[in-house]
Amino acid sequence: MSKPVILTGLRANNDLHLGNYLGAIRSVVALQKHHAGEYQVNMFVPDLHSFTTPIDHGKLYQQTLENIKLFVAAGLDVDDPNTFVYRQSAIPAHSEMTWILSCFTYYGELRRMTQFKEKAKQHKVEGESVLDNTDTPEATEDLAQHMTAGLFIYPVLMAADILLYDTKYVPVGEDQSQHVELARDVAVRMNNKFGKLFDLPEVYGTYNHTSEGKDPVRLRIRDLVNPEKKMSKSDASGKGVIFLTESPASAAKKIMSATTDSDNKIVYDMEKKPGISNLIQIAASLRGVSTEGVCREYKDQKQYGPFKQAVADEVEKFLTLFQEKLAAVDEKALLQKLGTGEAAMNKTANAKLLLVQKAVGLRP
Ligand code: ADP
Ligand code: TRP
Repeated sequence: MSKPVILTGLRANNDLHLGNYLGAIRSVVALQKHHAGEYQVNMFVPDLHSFTTPIDHGKLYQQTLENIKLFVAAGLDVDDPNTFVYRQSAIPAHSEMTWILSCFTYYGELRRMTQFKEKAKQHKVEGESVLDNTDTPEATEDLAQHMTAGLFIYPVLMAADILLYDTKYVPVGEDQSQHVELARDVAVRMNNKFGKLFDLPEVYGTYNHTSEGKDPVRLRIRDLVNPEKKMSKSDASGKGVIFLTESPASAAKKIMSATTDSDNKIVYDMEKKPGISNLIQIAASLRGVSTEGVCREYKDQKQYGPFKQAVADEVEKFLTLFQEKLAAVDEKALLQKLGTGEAAMNKTANAKLLLVQKAVGLRP
């Protein structure tokens, strides 16, 4: 029997950041550690996804390799025989599967994807005028005028990434769960029409220890300058983002100057107090405790300063250790591992593609 597949991908459009680490990479590493031998782990770089929004193309190739090194620094055991690292573009079946799936995905479904709406809005803010209400179909249409078709069908490529390997669990942050649900819907639709082609994927809630006694929460680390937004590598200024490769001292400074409120109460309330709640969330996630636990520890504090300093120290310590591990990654061995991962995954992906080609009548 083959092992259930856990799969996740992180785009290489910039350096990875603390949100990527806490929301995605760490949960895969934790799953790999706690369930060694039970699962197959596919950790890949969706390099074709990396330019759905504008990037510096001269850097993409190297950035992709750098990001794979970050997985190793985060603790991913690439020597484990059930773990595969690869680049999406090295497995051409992803592209052909995307086309086939796109013919079973509705325009209306893609138009409802919040990430498309958000990215379109961001683009618009940088480019032209801003629309306040992006929730109406008309507003989405308007925003969509200047977006690429690649950004629009991005979730179909993601569905191909997932369905080609009969993935069972997809550990992603909150912003990506809608895309995983879309992959599942398309899989159900095609299974109903053609007989079973795909296993159905599920979002895997991230290990974040943020809520006591509740279901695992999907983590969403916020931007430090504008805590209404998520921390994102697509953010042009990078001022509110802690990159995994930035100097620990500069990261600590960003925490010290993070936007908070004037209430001076260390209380977790993401709606009303997003800035301080985000810092509580970061501290809780790095320590592996609940947000309630962090609040209890600081409940008598009447100022934010000492708390911010504690979080800044925590982040600085984390980055220092992380970067030590990054410097020790054996690049040559990793490139070799990438080669074997890509060869093996081409086989698996081509077999699934053939099954689907047969189902839709492209092959006898
Ligand atoms: P970005 O928005 O920074 O470009 P991606 O969209 O490439 O990040 O996301 C890569 C992975 O990291 C996804 O699983 C996503 O859910 C997770 N992720 C991204 N940003 C955050 C965040 N701020 N908090 C938690 N998880 C995040
Ligand atoms: N869309 C994801 C993101 O922006 C990256 C991604 C591409 C992915 N394909 C995937 C994540 C498949 C999980 C599974 O973060």
